[in-house]
Amino acid sequence: MFRTHTCGELRLSDSGKTVTLAGWVKKSRDLGGMTFIDLRDRYGITQLAFNMETDAALCAEARKLGREFVIQATGTVTERSSKNERIPTGEVEIIVTSFRVLNSSQTPPFTIEEETDGGDELRMKYRYLDLRRDTVRRNLELRHRMGSETRKYLDSLEFIEVETPVLIKSTPEGARDFVVPSRMNPGEFYALPQSPQTFKQLLMVSGFDKYYQIVKCFRDEDLRADRQPEFTQIDCEMSFVEQEDILNTFEGLVRHLFKTVKGIDIPPMQRMTYADAMRLYGSDKPDIRFGMPFVELNDLVKNKGFKVFDDAELVVGINAGGAAEFTRKQLDELTEFVKRPQIGATGLVYARFNADGTLKSSVDKFYDENELKIWASAFDAKPGDLMLILAGPADKVRKQLNELRLEMGNRLGLRSKDHYVCHWVVDFPLLEFDEESGRYHAMHHPFTSPKPEDIHLLDSNPGAVRANAYDMVINGVEVGGGSIRIYDRDLQMRMFRLLGFSEEEARKQFGFLMNAFEYGAPPHGGIAFGFDRLCSLFGGADVIRDFIAFPKNNAGRDVMIDSPSSIAEEQLKELNIQLRG
Ligand code: AMO
Repeated sequence: MFRTHTCGELRLSDSGKTVTLAGWVKKSRDLGGMTFIDLRDRYGITQLAFNMETDAALCAEARKLGREFVIQATGTVTERSSKNERIPTGEVEIIVTSFRVLNSSQTPPFTIEEETDGGDELRMKYRYLDLRRDTVRRNLELRHRMGSETRKYLDSLEFIEVETPVLIKSTPEGARDFVVPSRMNPGEFYALPQSPQTFKQLLMVSGFDKYYQIVKCFRDEDLRADRQPEFTQIDCEMSFVEQEDILNTFEGLVRHLFKTVKGIDIPPMQRMTYADAMRLYGSDKPDIRFGMPFVELNDLVKNKGFKVFDDAELVVGINAGGAAEFTRKQLDELTEFVKRPQIGATGLVYARFNADGTLKSSVDKFYDENELKIWASAFDAKPGDLMLILAGPADKVRKQLNELRLEMGNRLGLRSKDHYVCHWVVDFPLLEFDEESGRYHAMHHPFTSPKPEDIHLLDSNPGAVRANAYDMVINGVEVGGGSIRIYDRDLQMRMFRLLGFSEEEARKQFGFLMNAFEYGAPPHGGIAFGFDRLCSLFGGADVIRDFIAFPKNNAGRDVMIDSPSSIAEEQLKELNIQLRG
């Protein structure tokens, strides 16, 4: 046997056993007559001890071992004189009788410790070493657990996992496609799937009424903390269901994950309409771990001589409970925060409800204390609260106030990472108007069904049509989204027309789906969760990168394998590709 135990396994009750371990030298310490080595593997760390007095030659050999050497050591499990309570194996050590070096190692470019001295780029270049660190390893273990519990839950409901192709044709999911040239079909390209959307709908036509797949998706879009160009979805679809069935089934999935992976019972999820989410929080993914809903003030503040408010389409604010004590400096910081180009507000008005009951605002010239009292009552503010107000074009100002609300949530410590609040946002608009192209785009995707009661508005007022579409939001992160689909050929054609496709174009791009709809398509709907996002949320992180074994950096590069990279002239020729310049 190569090893009898792992490095995380041995306890005091194993004392006296002869064991063989294998692993990496984490560090070694020479203390006069003794040499100690921390041996590490995936399961933990065990201390190896070498005694100069009893075996000087062996001890001398051990002293030659460098960091990250791979060794196999045999010895006796013994109680330690100075115990280490921080690790489960900390009560024992192995008095080594023999060992052999399985492989040597260069000195690693950064320390393989929880708190490493390696910068991001260096850790990405040597990702295989980074993955030896406890934190990153734990993240991947969490990911594995999440995947296996997802499968358990869906399997128990008789979902079946079906693989769909990776070399496909462009799907209109809103981002740019990654494309792959076809050698056998010169001048033609496959696209990598932005999601398996059309395939899972075809599987419904085939009669697989409960499908899922933990699947890679590819989107050529700008990277952010919660976006990677290749990411993983838990992609699901069901037939003979209504929206309510989907919401219940997948609320069940997330509840199961919280229960089994984190031991948390989460309460039934609230539902909020898109319209309310935008009106109350200025976001379609509001973080409702804390309150601070928007209060609209147009009726109270206009026509008092303050031009900024008089000219604004919307004057809207939040009540930051308990923040009246913010200093002038802190308020200036908040003003600077909202004026940053990324946020773009022109200024910030505030009104303090002091602890002594007096009220003071940054616009005292225009509003006396009596008027501020009326504000306070609109905000439901109490002594000690701080009212923060923005004014401007309605859509813009809501977005700006959303940022300010989240910032206040951070500053007031209301966004704790181990407090989870999950909810649904429902009734998304079917379409959104794109100023640039001057036409409507599907807000979710073109296969989403309008609400039956809104179908009559499709021609007269398309922007007002609501969809049977929903997102799941956890702590302000959109973790999943889906919809009930169109399954009627004529309605699907009408939808394509509305999105600016000619009959010809629609047939060329989606003929296969339209045809399928002529062969008995059942009513169906589904959802996809962003698996990386779900894992990072469960792991208490904002960045999904550390929950992916081999991620891309912010420029979309894999710096370890140096990709993307140029390819040989020969390969280009074979693919019929000519590079410009
Ligand atoms: P959608 O485009 O909303 O829906 O994607 C579903 C979920 O996938 C996650 N996600 C991402 N995660 C990491 N990096 C990215 N670049 C990225 N893009 C999206 C999000 C998102 O909620 N086919 C539909 C689903 C359906 O209708 O069933 C779809 O893909 O968490």
